Amino acid sequence: MILHSQEQETTLPRTLVFALSGLVVLGLLMIAWLLATRPGPAGSAASGQVIQTTGTAQIGGPFELVDQNGRTVTDATFRGKKLLVYFGFTHCPDVCPTGLSAMSSALQSLGEEAADVQPLFITVDPARDTPDALQSYMTYFGPSFLGLTGSDAQVDKAAKAYRVYYKKAPAKGDAANYSMDHSSIIYLMDENGRYVQHFTHEASPEAIAGALAKMR
Ligand code: NI
Repeated sequence: MILHSQEQETTLPRTLVFALSGLVVLGLLMIAWLLATRPGPAGSAASGQVIQTTGTAQIGGPFELVDQNGRTVTDATFRGKKLLVYFGFTHCPDVCPTGLSAMSSALQSLGEEAADVQPLFITVDPARDTPDALQSYMTYFGPSFLGLTGSDAQVDKAAKAYRVYYKKAPAKGDAANYSMDHSSIIYLMDENGRYVQHFTHEASPEAIAGALAKMR
């Protein structure tokens, strides 16, 4: 039977064989294209998983917090502004001040061009970082800085949106004098609340200012 079918193929006119194989290739390409572009539950679930494991594309998202003046703000409050977002806590001895100082110096060096940049400090220690506590802390870094706090759940939601890790680290024998372990990342977000890039707290002000200037 196998021999027989091969014989049949070889007896077909050559042009017809070429035309048929061309059609087969075209058909396969179309099927591949349809599978790749087809929306649907299977496709979206798969791409969601890819985003979660590869990271950066999903940083940022909805939050609702209170600033140091007692004003309720959400992610939508800041649409139209570039954001520098940093999570930390006011009792932090050096990491948070270093990161916030880098943001502050970057904005100062940009001068008037920093008018469309909103620096945000989101506390991971809402128990101690009340709006009042944030009010005095933010004055160290500049008038445009907003310090955001909220309920534990509100802070947790914001931290999760930005993939920020934080955990209470009690001091030995002194429960009231705890520290906070936390990720130390400065996020640069665009006017639509989308992630652009991030820096460590040790980034140079020039690097941050340069990234902001590039977005103009
Ligand atoms: Ni800190």
